[in-house]
Amino acid sequence: MNKRPSALTIRKARTSDIDALIAIEDQVFPTDRISRRSLKRLISRKTASFLVAEDQGERLGYALVLYRTGTALARLYSIAVADHGQGKGIGHRLLEAAEAYAFDHGCIFLRLEVRADNAPAVALYQHGGYRQFGIYADYYADHASALRFEKRLAGTTPPRGKQPPYYRQSTDFTCGPACMIMAMRWFKKRPPQGSKYDRRFELKLWREATTIFMTSGVGGCEPFGMSVALLKYGVQADIWSSRKGLFFLEGLRNKERRDVMNVVQEDFRAQAMDGGIPLHPKGLDRKTLHLLLEQGGLAIVLINGYEMFRDDEPHWVLVHASDDHHVYIHDPWVEDEDLETADAASGLPIPWAAFQRMIRVGRDRRMAAIALKGGNSR
Ligand SMILES: CC(C)(COP(=O)(O)OP(=O)(O)OC[C@H]1O[C@@H](n2cnc3c(N)ncnc32)[C@H](O)[C@@H]1OP(=O)(O)O)[C@@H](O)C(=O)NCCC(=O)NCCS
Repeated sequence: MNKRPSALTIRKARTSDIDALIAIEDQVFPTDRISRRSLKRLISRKTASFLVAEDQGERLGYALVLYRTGTALARLYSIAVADHGQGKGIGHRLLEAAEAYAFDHGCIFLRLEVRADNAPAVALYQHGGYRQFGIYADYYADHASALRFEKRLAGTTPPRGKQPPYYRQSTDFTCGPACMIMAMRWFKKRPPQGSKYDRRFELKLWREATTIFMTSGVGGCEPFGMSVALLKYGVQADIWSSRKGLFFLEGLRNKERRDVMNVVQEDFRAQAMDGGIPLHPKGLDRKTLHLLLEQGGLAIVLINGYEMFRDDEPHWVLVHASDDHHVYIHDPWVEDEDLETADAASGLPIPWAAFQRMIRVGRDRRMAAIALKGGNSR
């Protein structure tokens, strides 16, 4: 790689950069250049971060991130480095800065499209930890296809305090039991005689707390069943649920399955009542959650998987810390064995605004959480 620029700074673009930006556009993009008028508009747009890389007064590249109000998804609309600046790490620096701006803007994903034959750009994204999640065939005027990439952002916020040991769910239906295992370990509960915190115990917990069916596939766990199972292992739970009816019945048309779900969930509710598990008929609010976490507690919270992985299925995550800006979660789901590690799914800071959208689940946007208290000090 060539010599790196000595004093590279990345800053927000100004209208005085427009001539230099046009020169870069003309140099690197044969078609589809951003016009002077659009550049001017984009530089002052509130829902965009327009970043410029400058070395000793010379503008060497830019990155443009666009936001959509009300979502945690940002889009890298364009990135470019002047010909003579390429291959010196400037693209990489711009990409990192774009990620930091997107995260500070409350986004947890950065997405982009890139021509499949643009080897330098594809290399830049792959080395930057982006994952290809789709392809648009025949996307460009010359029929070339576009690869769709995304990265889950974690910002540079260091993890807060001591974190519960992470446990990765080993099936796509055991997010609840994986959170329960993390909580049991945090509260220093031993697994029952002869068991270990492993896949066998994860599936045992699932059998103890499952609803049997979900809208599709095998059953998930709802808060009553999970609280009853946790109580059995010595973990005290409070249920916070703004849902009056039963869980996961939306879209489940099969009458027999609905009947079975009714029986199972009614039974869990009766057991929860017998066990004296408190039920708060509303969502777990920010203040209560913050206080719970400050006192060494944890919350297992149902989220709408759409914000995390573009999948509408309900999903349980473990919340273990919060501050003024973020909640910190362990997401038991690790996206892909090759591309994401447990590190990327543990201690994830989620901006409050995104979190508050995530916890509204289903067509009626209800909230459900299990608040766990324990004497574990941090
Ligand atoms: C894509 C682009 C922004 C990369 O900027 P850059 O400053 O040259 O990239 P960097 O020097 O930071 O290199 C980043 C990575 O890409 C790789 N890379 C850079 N140039 C490359 C090339 N010509 N071929 C293959 N890989 C290349 C580097 O190996 C580096 O990986 P590493 O950090 O693991 O070593 C730049 O090539 C460019 O402006 N291209 C034209 C515009 C464009 O295509 N933009 C993207 C539209 S989606």
